[in-house]
Formats: sequence, structure tokens, C-alpha cells
Amino acid sequence: MLPAHEPALSLSDWIVLSLVCEGPAHGNALAVLLGQDGALGKIWHVNRAGVYRSLDRLVDLGLIRSAGDQPSNRGPVRTLVEATAAGQAAAASWQHRPAQHTRDIRSELLIKLALLHRSGTDPHDLLIAQRGRLEPIVAALRDRIAFATGFDRTLLLWRYETASAALRYLDALMPASPLPSGLRQPPAGWLPQIDTGVTRLPALSWLSHPLPGEGTRMTEIAVTVDGVKYVDNVEPRLLLVHYLREVIGKTGTPIGCDTSNCGACTVLMDGESVKSCAVLAVQADSAQITTIEDMAEGGLHPLQQAFHEQHALQCGYCTPGMIMAAADLLRENPHPSDEEIREGLEGNLCRCTGYENIVRAVRSAAESGVDQ
Ligand code: FES
Ligand code: FES
Repeated sequence: MLPAHEPALSLSDWIVLSLVCEGPAHGNALAVLLGQDGALGKIWHVNRAGVYRSLDRLVDLGLIRSAGDQPSNRGPVRTLVEATAAGQAAAASWQHRPAQHTRDIRSELLIKLALLHRSGTDPHDLLIAQRGRLEPIVAALRDRIAFATGFDRTLLLWRYETASAALRYLDALMPASPLPSGLRQPPAGWLPQIDTGVTRLPALSWLSHPLPGEGTRMTEIAVTVDGVKYVDNVEPRLLLVHYLREVIGKTGTPIGCDTSNCGACTVLMDGESVKSCAVLAVQADSAQITTIEDMAEGGLHPLQQAFHEQHALQCGYCTPGMIMAAADLLRENPHPSDEEIREGLEGNLCRCTGYENIVRAVRSAAESGVDQ
């Protein structure tokens, strides 16, 4: 949503206004900059007629005004325009406002970064604001994917992967603070300290790229996930959860904390529940991994059905991990007491605090004879 004081302009109008704010300019010079091969036209192309339409609109709105004529010995006299105080304020505000939609990162954010670069302005605040805008979008998509089916899932995956890539792009642009002293690699769970005011997602770039000057040492693993065998070369420090989600696309397994506290990432490894953020992918070599995505066979798994019937999920974020942990519990103890269920699931946290219904669902599944 636009701040109340900001005029509703098109992206082209904003760019033209921003360029005029750099100093008095004439339409021809702006058209060259925004032409197909112009420095800014490579990011957002505005044709000559479009530039002049924007100038007219900006004059009408009182954001720019005539600044006299510029004589030319190669053609007609050119009319210069300059920004008014209102135009300067509006452009400065717009340049620091994050793009609202992921699809606008390529155009709006990139052009703002280019404009800030031209004026020598530090883009840090914009990058932080953009990250703050994208993070909840990524988290919401991640939640929805866990329960999406059919083409919905195809579409959501595209949106999720695109938004995640944009986040990684922002991370790559932001200077990270130095690693803790004496360390060449970040310890598990360590995140670069930037005063963002927002919670950072796991710094995926640390996990998938070598540090500067460090060669990549890859290890081949063969792992069977949900009945399908995968052979991949992975970095020895790659966590199993990142392997599942980012290498083979098993995004049904969510990441809740990345510090082995919440249990959202629980999967079965050779039948036993493990927190996949606490296991290295290389440790899963030769193992059979079962994720939440393999639980339903031609219909909901009885545990999933019980969670559904007993209203054992609210936001659903903890649910994949709860169900995998419960499956392991019932395999070991097909008829647990409520106390044993609570004990068996104590490593899994529900931020919505729906524990009563979760226990009831597991009890109900046990009564219906689920033992794996
Ligand atoms: S993401 Fe693995 S325990 Fe929280
Ligand atoms: S249902 Fe929301 S975290 Fe458990």
C-alpha cells in the first residue's frame, strides 16, 4: 500500500522522476538512458513517447517543473526540467520502499538499486525492508505447500522457489558480519548478525556455497527417500533437511528452527524418527528416509486422518514432524498411555499450543490399530 503522501505513479513515472531528481534533465537524455541499450533501459525500458508522457504527468502533479532551455548546436533547443521539493521527497520515499510482490523484484527492486547506486546512496535499508517483506511470503508459501496437492502444489512450489531465490539474492547483496573469531566455517545455527529487525531465515548461502578461497569437497551419497533412490554429490556440512528440501525437492518437511529444538523437520531414518536438521546428509548415506510426503498411500494415513478428525492442527507447521514422531512412537509402543504419548512427542513443539488435541489424535490412531 502506498504511504498517504505518495502519489500513485507508474513504475516508469517513478523512474523518470528519480532521474530528474539527479539534476536538471531534458527528455531526450532520459530517453537514451531508458532506451533498450541504455544503462537503465536494460532493467526497465521506457520508449521515448513514454518518457514524455511521464514528464507531462509529473509536471501536472507538481513533482517537476520547467528549468529553462538548454541551447544545443546539434539540434533544437531542449527544455530542461527539475524536481520540485515535493518531487524530491516523493522519489526518496519511493526508492526506499520495498517491492510488494515477488514478481516485482526483477523490475522494481532492481531499478531502485540501480538508482541508489547512481546517487551513491547505501541500499542497506531498502534490502532490509525488502527482506522483511519477503520473509512472511516465503513462510506462508512453505506452510501451504505442505498441504497442497495436484496443480495447486505445482503452482505453490513455483512461487515458493521464486521467493526463496529472491531471499537468497538479497542475502548475497547484504554484507554479513565476520564469522566468530577463529572459525573458518560457521557453526551449525550461526547466522550473520545484521541488525535487520526481522528474523533471518537460515543462511542457505553458507550451506550451499564454499567460503571464499575454499575448494568444494563433495561426497557422494546414495539415499532412498520415500522409496526412490537418489545418488548425489553433497558438501559434507550439508544438513539432511536442506538436502531433502533443496536438492531433491521434498518440501513437505518444514524447517521450524534450524537449531534442533522444534521437531518440525522430523523424518524417519531407517524407521526411527530423527530431526533432519540435526543429521548431516552424509550420515544418511545408504539409509532409507521416509518423509511426510510418503505417509499417504491412496488416501490419508490413519495418523493424518486422526489429526484431521481430532482438530490436532491449527497453523499446521508442526504437523509433519508430529506425525512422523508419532509414527515412530506407535511402532515402538502401539498402545501408549497419554503420558507415554506426551513423553514420546516431547521433542516436538507446537507454537499454536494445540497439545491436547495432538495427544487425543495419537491416542485415536493407536486405538484404530496404527502401529507404523
Ligand atoms: S527445524 Fe529441525 S528441530 Fe526445528
Ligand atoms: S499447529 Fe501451529 S505449530 Fe502446531
